[in-house]
Amino acid sequence: MIYINQLANHVDNTVTLKGWVYNYRSSGSLVFIEMRDGTGITQCVVAKDDVSEQAWEAATSLKQESSLEITGTVKADERSVGGHEIHVSDVNVIQIAEDYPITPKDHGVEFLMNNRHLWLRSQRQWAAMRVRNEIIFAIHTFFQERNFVQMDSPIFTGNAAEGSTTLFETEFFEEPAYLAQTGQLYGEAMAMAHALIYTFGPTFRAEKSKTRRHLSEFWMIEPEMAYYDLKMNMDLAEDMIRFIVKTVLEKRKAELDILERDTSKLEALVENPFIRMTYTEAVDILTSDATAQMLDDMMDSRKEEEKAMKQEREEIKKEHGSAKKWRKNQIDARIKEIGSRLDQIEEDYRNIPQWKESAQSFEWGNDFGGSDETVLTMQYDVPVMVTHWPAEIKAFYMKRDESGKHALGVDVLAPEGYGEIIGGSQREDDLELMHERIEEEGLDKEVFEWYLDLRRYGTVPHAGFGLGLERTVAWLCGLAHVRETIPFPRMMGRLKP
Ligand code: 4AD
Ligand code: MG
Repeated sequence: MIYINQLANHVDNTVTLKGWVYNYRSSGSLVFIEMRDGTGITQCVVAKDDVSEQAWEAATSLKQESSLEITGTVKADERSVGGHEIHVSDVNVIQIAEDYPITPKDHGVEFLMNNRHLWLRSQRQWAAMRVRNEIIFAIHTFFQERNFVQMDSPIFTGNAAEGSTTLFETEFFEEPAYLAQTGQLYGEAMAMAHALIYTFGPTFRAEKSKTRRHLSEFWMIEPEMAYYDLKMNMDLAEDMIRFIVKTVLEKRKAELDILERDTSKLEALVENPFIRMTYTEAVDILTSDATAQMLDDMMDSRKEEEKAMKQEREEIKKEHGSAKKWRKNQIDARIKEIGSRLDQIEEDYRNIPQWKESAQSFEWGNDFGGSDETVLTMQYDVPVMVTHWPAEIKAFYMKRDESGKHALGVDVLAPEGYGEIIGGSQREDDLELMHERIEEEGLDKEVFEWYLDLRRYGTVPHAGFGLGLERTVAWLCGLAHVRETIPFPRMMGRLKP
């Protein structure tokens, strides 16, 4: 069997493709079928004179998403999707689909999410899933090439590790249990056995708010390294992200094009080192006059852009009445473009003053909100790594610096408003201090006895981090919401399909 992404090897040959009707139109004695087969899309041209009556009958009875086999000759054609065209000699229908609910018109996102099982066939969703796959493969490659051992941590757990407010409670043979928020604590145990490990698995958090960054079920990659300190941890995280981005840029160019991803920002970070700063430095930047000025300037430039766009719209609208058909289409497309840009500007008008307010009034000791991360990262093209957090707002297992005030944690914030994609730290390796932390947090000591054993038997400095897969996919694909980064998202209000 031949797949569409292999057509280049079969130019001028006769091939049979098996797939579905993505789109079609007919004009007189010609039918144009945009066929998709899972690997790509190609245009198939059926000419009435070239096929049997039966095949012509089949070609003219097609509907969107009907399944079919097409036989024809492969022609190289630069104007066609994918660079080829099939001159059809036979059409064999497997099934004429019922009226397909997702049509080329615009649908609301709730409708699309309710039809997620079908929406996955659409071009943009298809492209995002292929980028996701490439990222997963790149992550495994990165760690396997560096002698890391992949290990699976349990999903049923007996303890909280990332705060008790986002726990999914369940029952395990009449014993209370929780779905894992992280695999880290088990990863630490495994790192003491294998030195370099990573987990790659589902994690669960009962996030009770609907945001574009939070899922209830998401996939996390958690490397854990014996004899690593915070700096080594950060170097590894930076190398990993650069490797992922480079791989996706190299191998998924076509998918990024479909997603209309502006890749210039991604290319910038392949060449340049990431920004590193302490939490305190980050707070100074947020509250600075320069940041306030930058946001004011942003408002001003939006106002100018709005004015120019509205003016352009007026002018082309006047032209519309007397324009030729091709020009009318061009104008309609441009008006649509202007409309969506103006919507974005409206949103910026609502957001920017709030961002400014939040940034300027930020107080040392608070956690960054989404908008603070946005304001901080918009000043750079590369990710920002923030370290030395106020110990109170970070997890109990993080080691502290000499002052005792700061946790040796690192958050990696992606640019372009994507925010935190990695949380990591050097771990507390001292038995007494770990005891204290567990007590301070009010955690059940008994449940953590096994974890304390790691500090009793050959404790060593160690560190690790967790990368959120869906946030990484959203960032690289340029998607506004994590719900489109996983085949079947689970989040508040969404359990089906
Ligand atoms: O910062 P977090 O909570 O860190 C940990 O869980 C550590 N145990 C990791 C470690 O050191 N081994 O989560 C890590 C990352 C976040 O930076 C984010 O990318 C992602 O996991 N994440 C979520 N992604 C989607 N939806 C959610 N609700 C997420 N919560 C965290
Ligand atoms: Mg975090």
